Amino acid sequence: NKQVRNIRNIMRNRLPNKILEILETAGQMAEEFGTEAYVVGGFVRDILLTKPNFDLDLVVETDGIKFAKKLAKKMSGRAKYHRKFKTAVVILPDGQRVDVATARLEYYEYPAALPTVELSSIKMDLYRRDFTVNALAVHINPSSFGKLVDFFGAQRDLKDRTIRILHALSFVEDPTRIMRAIRFEQRFDFRIGGQTLNLIKNALKLNLFNKLSGYRIVHELKLILNEDAVPGSIKRMDELGVLEAIHPLLVLNSSREQVITELERVISWHSLLYLEPTISVWKTYFLGLCMGISKPKMEQIYNRFSFSQTEEREFVHLRETIFWAAGNIMNIREELKPSEIYTILHPVPLEGVLFIMARTKRDMIKKYISQYLTTLRLQTIDITGDDLKELGLIPGPQYAQLLFETKLACLDSLVKGKDEQLEFVKKVIKSGK
Ligand code: CTP
Repeated sequence: NKQVRNIRNIMRNRLPNKILEILETAGQMAEEFGTEAYVVGGFVRDILLTKPNFDLDLVVETDGIKFAKKLAKKMSGRAKYHRKFKTAVVILPDGQRVDVATARLEYYEYPAALPTVELSSIKMDLYRRDFTVNALAVHINPSSFGKLVDFFGAQRDLKDRTIRILHALSFVEDPTRIMRAIRFEQRFDFRIGGQTLNLIKNALKLNLFNKLSGYRIVHELKLILNEDAVPGSIKRMDELGVLEAIHPLLVLNSSREQVITELERVISWHSLLYLEPTISVWKTYFLGLCMGISKPKMEQIYNRFSFSQTEEREFVHLRETIFWAAGNIMNIREELKPSEIYTILHPVPLEGVLFIMARTKRDMIKKYISQYLTTLRLQTIDITGDDLKELGLIPGPQYAQLLFETKLACLDSLVKGKDEQLEFVKKVIKSGK
């Protein structure tokens, strides 16, 4: 099982020269330091899965900070470091980042580990990681460049498409790994292994999630909700009791599930249409998870997540504008004019507009929202504040109001071109006084 495999040729074929050059340079430097250097983690996993990933994580069996400083100098980059964790990041002139960590035996005190004398420091470093598929390394010293280091059967798990932890205490040490397991499972269309699944269920029974800070939970939740295949991850979190462990108010029901499935369609439709402005995908899904929760109960969720005041205010605002706009648009029976659609939807942040689109079952409303997103929202007018100033108007809140009314008139094609718009504004001013 410990066959030594060299993936030098695979690396040469699949990696950009720039990345290879960094690895070779770091390998040569390791040789000069008289130490061993490896590239590890997701980068190696993704080479074997033929997925592009250029996040370089190096582990060196020497002082990683010294190593990083020297690498930075050699490649005309700069190094930043964390003395406490003996880690550093080298930032190259083109912005490429190279993380450098120190593999040192004395840091890892695992009662469950093999006798420590038998372990090389790279093995110890890999052993403290989450899953076998993330615990691969490739040796980059010149004499063994490309040698795959697989202590834990990761190649077999990649072949069997399995997410498997390295030791039974993994989820106890770090319960966020439960969410990571689901994220990788769904991302790669793998399955969580049987033993690993039992350990997840155990960890949840022991309420290990209660010990996690709101910050860490939200961080992992955002990562999951920002990936592709979100509905699958949400269903999996629900099925395993992860949503309930995060907060009992978040468990799935059929209407949430329906909306979340529809959100995936709406979000991918939207992302194909526009690049700007980009939406916050996780927030849109999070709206789906919180559907039906009353305002006072939402407080519990904000507290559990330790949202900052700003985050809480933003999310409250998002929910309120949705509530208001949905109330207005959902009950519509007659045809809406473009200006009416715009008036209802423009106060709602884009995440909320997409949410309303996913929630409605009425094609007419979907069409209105699509019209808003693809044209009404983007239509511009020709007059500006400067024109109002020239009309002798004192700058103030009425500027925004006048420009807004002009936009509405343009949307309904009541006025066209700058001259008509100016005439329109003059008329409004007159009638207003
Ligand atoms: N890791 C871990 N436990 C965690 C988080 C991370 O053991 N709770 C380890 C993993 O082995 C991972 C490495 O730290 O390979 C780097 O973490 P991260 O950058 O999050 O993982 P990637 O595998 O690179 O994930 P992604 O593809 O999403 O970037």
